[in-house]
Amino acid sequence: MINDDLEAVLLVGGQGSRLRPLTIATPKPLLPTAGVPFLAHQLARAREAGAGHVVFATSYRAAMFERAFGDGAAYGLCIDYMVEDEPLGTGGAIRNAAGALRGGPDDPVLVLNGDILSGHDIRAQLALHARAEAAVTLHLTEVTDPSRFGCVPTDADGRVTAFLEKTPDPVTNRINAGCYVFRRSTLDAIPAGQVVSVERETFPGLIAAGETVMGYADAAYWLDVGTPEAYVQGCRDLVLGRLPAPAVSGVPAPALIAADAKIDPDATVGGGSTVGPGATVAAGAEVTGSVLFEDAAVGEGARVVDSVLGRGARLAPGVILDGAVIGDDAVIEEGNELRAGARLWPGTHLPPTTLRFTPDP
Ligand code: GTP
Repeated sequence: MINDDLEAVLLVGGQGSRLRPLTIATPKPLLPTAGVPFLAHQLARAREAGAGHVVFATSYRAAMFERAFGDGAAYGLCIDYMVEDEPLGTGGAIRNAAGALRGGPDDPVLVLNGDILSGHDIRAQLALHARAEAAVTLHLTEVTDPSRFGCVPTDADGRVTAFLEKTPDPVTNRINAGCYVFRRSTLDAIPAGQVVSVERETFPGLIAAGETVMGYADAAYWLDVGTPEAYVQGCRDLVLGRLPAPAVSGVPAPALIAADAKIDPDATVGGGSTVGPGATVAAGAEVTGSVLFEDAAVGEGARVVDSVLGRGARLAPGVILDGAVIGDDAVIEEGNELRAGARLWPGTHLPPTTLRFTPDP
């Protein structure tokens, strides 16, 4: 069955701890990404793949999701919300979301991690699932350094043979890409009301039980936006058109600038940057490959490269950011340079300085 009756579950209940301070006020799936909440990209892709009914599996800051997406009509979808009082892990969350699903025991359910940007062909993944009459069909992506992840080997027919933990010597460069098609009855068999991990428990258990677990492998664009560096890269890639962006108009472009942002004619904004509503960039400033949230302000001659400037955050003239993440309403006074890995908590005030820290070579 591939039509508008397809149901989808979006896993959006995680704390997003690696993305702090950005996720202190806003859950990761709602962070502005190329001008829209991150999830809007996934909803657009689920819609394109034939989804009509989507269930959000929420926990951390659950109420914010309903405020952002309502009943889903604006997205051409019907959205329901299932909240976990205590986070139930990926498997427990999927099982909890099943309470709002409407399909029958043999129907497919598309499950998406709420922090993945992917250009893969979801319809082809659904077609493989139907053809193989699988219990679960996982999207697998190929990475250059699989030793940083658990890997997922398959046999010649594409059947998953194991779920292997991280090792220095992985047997394949294919990893779990965080997009699954479940047979509804397989999803219902996950134990209810308890913490369960699909990666550590459900999938290895299905393989051990001899169930058909298929791998849909491809080399399409794929990015887990779980870290600040990856989040900035994802925003940049969407603006520059390195993957389809059906949720955004006006891309590809060198930069995506909100209608009421103010960019001085003598400023330079490019490299796939996003400038949010009410943000300002003063004369002589340069913003490259970066994300400026709503009402952020970049002073004269400041330089912002591959960085995030939170809502209402302000940079004094001449400040340099390179690979830095600045929390909401932080103020950075003149003379400061913040380089790769620097993170400032919301509301921080960095006074003017003439000091320079030079890292060891
Ligand atoms: P980190 O804290 O930075 O690891 O991020 P995270 O909390 O998002 O965890 P992770 O990246 O491992 O989660 C993968 C996906 O599953 C994300 O979309 C999360 O929102 C989601 N997720 C993780 N744990 C839970 C949970 O207990 N409940 C629900 N509903 N979703 C979860």
